[in-house]
Amino acid sequence: MKILLKNGMVVSGNGSKKQDVLIQDGIIMEVSDSILASDAEQVDVTGKILFPGFIDAHTHFDLEVSNTITADNFATGTKAAILGGTTMIIDFATQNKGETLTEALQNWHKKADGVSSCDYGFHMAISDWNAQTEKDLSVMFEQGVSSFKLYMTYPAMRVDDGVLYECLKKISKMEGLVGVHCENGDIIDALIAEQKAAGNNTPCAHPISRPPAVEAEAIHRLLTIAKLAGAAVMVVHLSSKEGLEEVLRAEDQTVFAETCPQYLLLDDSVYCQETMEAAKYVCSPPLRKKIDQDALWDALKNDQIHTIATDHCSFSMEQKSVGREDFTKIPNGMPGVETRGSLLYTYGYRSGKLSLEQLCRLLSENPAKLYGLYPRKGVIRPGSDADIVVFDPEKETIISAKTHHYHMDYAPFEGWKLHGDVQDVYLRGELIVKNGTIQKENFGQYIKREKGSFL
Ligand code: URP
Ligand code: ZN
Ligand code: ZN
Repeated sequence: MKILLKNGMVVSGNGSKKQDVLIQDGIIMEVSDSILASDAEQVDVTGKILFPGFIDAHTHFDLEVSNTITADNFATGTKAAILGGTTMIIDFATQNKGETLTEALQNWHKKADGVSSCDYGFHMAISDWNAQTEKDLSVMFEQGVSSFKLYMTYPAMRVDDGVLYECLKKISKMEGLVGVHCENGDIIDALIAEQKAAGNNTPCAHPISRPPAVEAEAIHRLLTIAKLAGAAVMVVHLSSKEGLEEVLRAEDQTVFAETCPQYLLLDDSVYCQETMEAAKYVCSPPLRKKIDQDALWDALKNDQIHTIATDHCSFSMEQKSVGREDFTKIPNGMPGVETRGSLLYTYGYRSGKLSLEQLCRLLSENPAKLYGLYPRKGVIRPGSDADIVVFDPEKETIISAKTHHYHMDYAPFEGWKLHGDVQDVYLRGELIVKNGTIQKENFGQYIKREKGSFL
């Protein structure tokens, strides 16, 4: 089966050009100025932008956390993802204490296999570092898991500095990449206790108990430890100017940074609303201030932040309401996997902050490279999977919980206008989304990832 996309603006990380794209049997066969293929189905994409399928390297679907389970599972989450142009997600398979990595990976396959509408891979979040965990690392690589996550906070997941050092050393020797959640857990506990002692139990206390310095200190410590271990690291969901400054200060070591749309576009004023309205935005690290947003945008412009992911971790209003009387009981996280591309197109590219090529690198090419998917994914070139977003630069929509595809009763960006949206999406050559409507579900495959290459 051949498909010829005619006259689209093909975007890559280093240029954009009006070209034709020929797809056969799920693979891109040819990309050039003018292709004649009378045996192919011809699709006129004049005036449309063709991006390589977006890759969201930070999602949490079907995750048991805070005595509940995320509202979106792989079925609902990946459907929303592909409707937003994301053809591959990398979710955090998570090792609970007492579990082996192999068991954790099996658990994640049970959740995702057969029900996913976009392609998927897994990072492995390590919470229990022991001899068996260390032994299982090689199994992870064999099974296509070449990146890991460690947490410097959250009692159930947190590792101490010694474990951080050992893990980084071991994994970097195997050429894996570790992403780290950087917040100082002890200081957070102390600041929470202070807020509670002062009778402040509402979400207003959430950003006060996790100020930028808590992130910056953890980043500084992580980078010191990573340097000693000789390891490259990825600072995930970077939220603050202070944290960014630590990343930029790093010398003689390899540091990557990821941020998320919520840290670029929303600010901490949302926490000073009525409790349940504020609870929608309780995530960690918390939303920050305009000065932080500006610093993150500048760093994106200067290619000092390498990926934009979503940290999609959704909880319904009922789930969030468990923390009505105590903000520390509100499950942390918010949805985002569906709107990343169009939000970044509208508020990043259209507003003049980022070029189309930067957008392509941040949403697609860089995650593909860092996480061992390139050039199979992350680029529109012969030999790559035909994962293509046909993007309509003029389509105007408004984000709303009434129309989104999450299993969610609110939208953090409710009412936000989008100028530019996903029209069609091809996943390995199959038209999964047509005119914004899903055509085929559960076409997603597990993708074994190679070791990543550094940018
Ligand atoms: O609040 C958040 N970000 N929840 C998801 C888990 C994490 O820390 O990435
Ligand atoms: Zn995290
Ligand atoms: Zn996360």
